[in-house]
Amino acid sequence: MIVDLPDLAAMDAFGTRIAAALRPGDVVALSGGLGAGKTTLSRSVIAALGHPGEVPSPTFTIIETYDSLSPPLVHADFYRLEHPSEIDEIGLDDYREGAALLAEWPENAGGFGHEAACLSITLEIAGEGRRAIVLPGESWLGREP
Ligand SMILES: Nc1ncnc2c1ncn2[C@@H]1O[C@H](COP(=O)(O)OP(=O)(O)OP(=O)(O)O)[C@@H](O)[C@H]1O
Ligand SMILES: [Mg+2]
Repeated sequence: MIVDLPDLAAMDAFGTRIAAALRPGDVVALSGGLGAGKTTLSRSVIAALGHPGEVPSPTFTIIETYDSLSPPLVHADFYRLEHPSEIDEIGLDDYREGAALLAEWPENAGGFGHEAACLSITLEIAGEGRRAIVLPGESWLGREP
């Protein structure tokens, strides 16, 4: 499934649809190169879930948590990981307990596409805007954003 995202308003609307479908245990795996829009889409999802404040990019902290949202949300950026085994040292599984995960650079964490609750989104630059290639895992069928 392809979603055209010509501008920031379209990105916001897409993030709002993702937020409305999101459940605990889900992973939204956000792939795409530098500047593809992964953090922008994450911010739209987090804002749509009702977070009122700033959403810092997790590039340096790797993990940011939003415990009071429904579902509770973990926003991760695995860009700086050198090996997927580092997710164990970080304690990713503990963070994910009862929460949904938004993962930038998911490949660096070994990927999540094998999880039924993974929505894989690849963002690409398309002219001045973006395009999303969306691949729903089994448990996303019927609630694709
Ligand atoms: N749909 C869109 N249309 C136009 N511009 C966009 C769109 N989505 C994002 N942008 C712009 O692209 C720029 C980079 O976006 P963003 O920081 O989200 O990328 P990223 O994928 O997180 O990059 P990085 O891997 O470097 O963290 C921002 O200036 C943002 O405003
Ligand atoms: Mg980013």
